[in-house]
Amino acid sequence: MDKVAKTDHSINDLISHRWSPRAFSEKLVPADALASLFEAARWAPSSSNEQPWAYIVATRDVPGEFASMLGTLVEFNAGWAKHAAVLAIAVSENAFAKTGAPNRNAHYDTGAASALLCIEATARGLFVHQMAGFDPEKARQIYGIPAGWEAIAALAIGYAGDPNALPQPYKDRELAERTRKPISEFVMTGKWGHTASFLS
Ligand SMILES: Cc1cc2nc3c(=O)[nH]c(=O)nc-3n(C[C@H](O)[C@H](O)[C@H](O)COP(=O)(O)O)c2cc1C
Repeated sequence: MDKVAKTDHSINDLISHRWSPRAFSEKLVPADALASLFEAARWAPSSSNEQPWAYIVATRDVPGEFASMLGTLVEFNAGWAKHAAVLAIAVSENAFAKTGAPNRNAHYDTGAASALLCIEATARGLFVHQMAGFDPEKARQIYGIPAGWEAIAALAIGYAGDPNALPQPYKDRELAERTRKPISEFVMTGKWGHTASFLS
C-alpha cells in the first residue's frame, strides 16, 4: 500500500516511507533484525549521554509473554496489535542516574531512541506502530518496573499485513490519507508565531 509521505520539500526515503500501520503480517521478525532495531535506538543522542531509555520486548513465538504484554494495551489497540510479530514497551528514567537530579529531557531522549528504531525498521522492510493507549501501571506490576522509571509508550513491530483483512474501524483509518500541519505553522524565527523567514 502506498502511504509514502507527500512532502513539500525533499526528505530521505527512509523518513517518507515510515508510517504506522494497523495491518500486520504474523511473520516473525528474525532475532538479528530485531537486535538491529534496538542497536539503532542505542545510538540515539541524549542529554549528557544519559541514555535514559529501556525497552521490554515480547515476541509472538513466546505466547505467554506476548499475551501478557498484549493485556497492557487498551482494547482499541489490542484489537489490531494482536497480529504484530513483536510488542515492546519503552520505559524512561526520570532522573539522572549519577546525581538523582530530574532529567527534564528524559522523555525527549527516549522518543529520539524510538524514532531511530522506527527508521532502522523502515530500512529493513519492517513497520512500527507506537501507542500511548496502554496501562503503564499494569506494565509496572507485570514487569517490576522500578520507581523512578516510567513506561511511556508501547510499540507494535512487524511486517506489513493486508489492510483489506482489517475489520472496521481499523480498515478506514488504514486506507485514509496521511496528513500533517504545514511547516509554516511550527517553524518560527524572531518571535513566537512568526513563520521562519527561510520558508517564505
Ligand atoms: C507516542 C505515540 C502514541 C501513539 N498512540 C497511538 C495509539 O494509542 N493508538 C494508535 O492506533 N496509534 C497511536 N499512535 C500512532 C499515531 O496516531 C500516528 O503516528 C500518527 O497518526 C501519524 O501517522 P504515521 O505514523 O502513519 O505518520 C501513536 C504515535 C505516537 C508517536
